[in-house]
Amino acid sequence: MNHSLIAFTGAACLVALTVGVLAESPSYSKTYEKYVQSDGTIMVPQDYRTKFTFIGTFSVAGGDQSGGQAQFHQVYLDPDSVEHYRRTREFPDGAILIKELQKTRATKMTTGHASFWDDDAGWFVMIKDTKDRFKDSGLWGDGWGWALFDASDRTKPTTKNYKAECIACHVPSRKTDWVHVWAYPSLEAKDRFKDFNP
Ligand code: HEC
Repeated sequence: MNHSLIAFTGAACLVALTVGVLAESPSYSKTYEKYVQSDGTIMVPQDYRTKFTFIGTFSVAGGDQSGGQAQFHQVYLDPDSVEHYRRTREFPDGAILIKELQKTRATKMTTGHASFWDDDAGWFVMIKDTKDRFKDSGLWGDGWGWALFDASDRTKPTTKNYKAECIACHVPSRKTDWVHVWAYPSLEAKDRFKDFNP
């Protein structure tokens, strides 16, 4: 192989690789538009379990606030935003956070008494919005879109007004952009627990 052929082959490989990488991971702002209708209605991304990055869990011993079986809250973030957060310690416009509520079962296992996934119990979704896009929607404000979904329907949020239904409970984590960032190992923000103000 002569030199120019090697150089050409090398350049072609680089282009193919770059195109491949871009096609593989659409940027967060594009992802965002797939899950938000023009009036600001939010949907749960269907493919989040395979396409998003799982970032961490809260184990809620007594189940929901009415008691019962333990619940897991499993949190996912789109992969670009994980990278962006690690670099800048901020969520980029279009970042999508999903908190999946899981009903659990428990049984005696060789590891001890262990709980595991049994059924979906709903989803909380937050989508970062640095541009204040949906001023007329009750789901958007304070830098995010906010929505809760029943397990039966991932396309229609039950939330009407985030100010009444979400924000009061997130005030303790206001200093970290309303998100409990210190709980997620891949965000490397454990030191921000000092900013949690329950
Ligand atoms: C009863 C209080 C409460 C209400 C109401 C509430 N949240 Fe949360 N939320 C929390 C707490 C506490 C956590 C972290 C601990 C956990 O999940 O157990 C959390 C975590 C989350 C997460 C994971 C990201 C993070 O903050 O770490 C999302 C997404 C979320 N909430 C969205 C919402 C949305 C959207 C609403 C309104 C529809 C809402 N929440 C209403 C208390 C609340």
